[in-house]
Amino acid sequence: MARNHAGTTAIVTGASSGLGAEFARTLAARGANLVLIARRADRLTALADELAAAHGVDAHPLALDLAAPGAVEAVTTFVRERGLSIDSLVNNAGFGMHGELAEADAARIDEQVRLNVGALVSLTRAFLPEMTASGRGILVNVASTAAFQPLPYMAVYGATKVFVLSFTEAVAYETRESGLRVTTLCPGATRTEFFDVVGTQEARVGDYQTPEEVVATAIRALDARRTPSSVVSGGRNSAAAVLARIMPRSIVIPMTARLMAN
Ligand SMILES: NC(=O)c1ccc[n+]([C@@H]2O[C@H](COP(=O)([O-])OP(=O)(O)OC[C@H]3O[C@@H](n4cnc5c(N)ncnc54)[C@H](OP(=O)(O)O)[C@@H]3O)[C@@H](O)[C@H]2O)c1
Repeated sequence: MARNHAGTTAIVTGASSGLGAEFARTLAARGANLVLIARRADRLTALADELAAAHGVDAHPLALDLAAPGAVEAVTTFVRERGLSIDSLVNNAGFGMHGELAEADAARIDEQVRLNVGALVSLTRAFLPEMTASGRGILVNVASTAAFQPLPYMAVYGATKVFVLSFTEAVAYETRESGLRVTTLCPGATRTEFFDVVGTQEARVGDYQTPEEVVATAIRALDARRTPSSVVSGGRNSAAAVLARIMPRSIVIPMTARLMAN
């Protein structure tokens, strides 16, 4: 059954484009007030205005680099100063890099781990007590089909997504009695700005889905009578994820490397 979010408040990270903007639109359409976080202030403000006008919700833009020191404290301060209580959190902000690790920009690698893993864990920890107390909301952590096998040439990115999957499935178990719906969303290639940031469309495996398709998959899982602790978007991606999990690593890793080597 479609979950009503009227009167609740949700944080969406990475809301300035792609999957995050789509999550924000979907939650606003169900009545959720929003805290929209990313670095590009102009895009967040435009989205906040759009959602407030379309759905009559309160939408607060917060322009912030979540990989910077003190970022999560800045989020909690922003929330407390406005007297908000958080029911839902969509940890979606993330990026990937392509190429051999030995040649990768070391500072950018650190930033990737701080954003994809560090900020996600800290935001979850910061708001989990009030989210479980509310029991009306959702926690969505965005991983990837990269979580199902090592990813040569995107080694750090793949490993961050393994972390997100393991972490979120564990938190889903710990909070199972609370009413909070928790899932890990594992998209495959999706038509967003992601591959522009990666720097090559060639790192894509399989056909593109749209952000609308991917977010609809997450929302269906969250609306289900029993929310699964992880959900893969797309039939082909789901089949590939199953295969990657059962095939020997000695086969899966070179196969993935060939797809990623461009
Ligand atoms: N697209 C795909 O094929 C695909 C597949 C699997 C998983 N995913 C995952 O899906 C999630 C969303 O990505 P997307 O596909 O929607 O890509 P996207 O269009 O590039 O969106 C990424 C979002 O993260 C924000 N962001 C990046 N660095 C940030 C930082 N340091 N601080 C705060 N916000 C930051 C970006 O906003 P600003 O630049 O304004 O900060 C943007 O809103 C990511 O976790 C990604 O790993 C994507």
